[in-house]
Amino acid sequence: MEKQEIRTFGRRHGKKLSARKESLVRDTLPALCPRADEKIDILEIGFGSGEHVRELAIANPNRIILGAEPFMNGVAALLSGICDENGAVLDEYKNIRIFPDDVRIVLNDGNYGFDEIWILHPDPWPKARHEKRRLLNADFLNLLSKNLATDGKIIIGTDHWEYYDWILNQVKNTNLCETNLSHDIIQTRYQKKNMAGTAEPKYIILTRR
Ligand SMILES: C[S@@+](CC[C@H](N)C(=O)[O-])C[C@H]1O[C@@H](n2cnc3c(N)ncnc32)[C@H](O)[C@@H]1O
Repeated sequence: MEKQEIRTFGRRHGKKLSARKESLVRDTLPALCPRADEKIDILEIGFGSGEHVRELAIANPNRIILGAEPFMNGVAALLSGICDENGAVLDEYKNIRIFPDDVRIVLNDGNYGFDEIWILHPDPWPKARHEKRRLLNADFLNLLSKNLATDGKIIIGTDHWEYYDWILNQVKNTNLCETNLSHDIIQTRYQKKNMAGTAEPKYIILTRR
């Protein structure tokens, strides 16, 4: 990631982790970091507590799923959900990889050819003075496009309808286009809270032009 890139997330650390979560971060996480010699099929950006990453892993047992999230309490929550009491990853989650930091570090690094990229409830940064912190600007969308397989899909969901319109405007300045494909999407923790107070989330599915 370029040093001068603007931070798009809030905190990296929240309340103190339990002893179990601390040991999972220390002992289990390093082995789950993405490896250069392994093809990754699906990326989820900003997975929060990781419930949707877990769904993806179960729905796609033969595909490798990478979740990127800089909020360490979220990373620890996902680890806790996929590991047994000894810190071993449960069989059904063995296809999960975790990058515990800003996804742009991974994306700037490679040309992954992901089949799917998921971004559910990206931080909307609603105040005008924070607009520059919005992740899904045209530059970032082009970076996603560069890392997408030719027939790959980017699936975005937000309950912040102003951000939804803003993203669609950004798409105009990219080599991506909106499609009317559909996709099954589970409710995430953030969505259940419905922070923006809207009736329902809206989804955007993008492919390369
Ligand atoms: C509003 S939360 C939504 C979490 C989850 N997707 C859900 O729906 O419950 C947005 C998440 O995106 C993460 N995020 C923001 N910028 C990011 C970046 N550059 N790379 C990876 N994750 C990022 C934040 O840390 C935060 O956990």
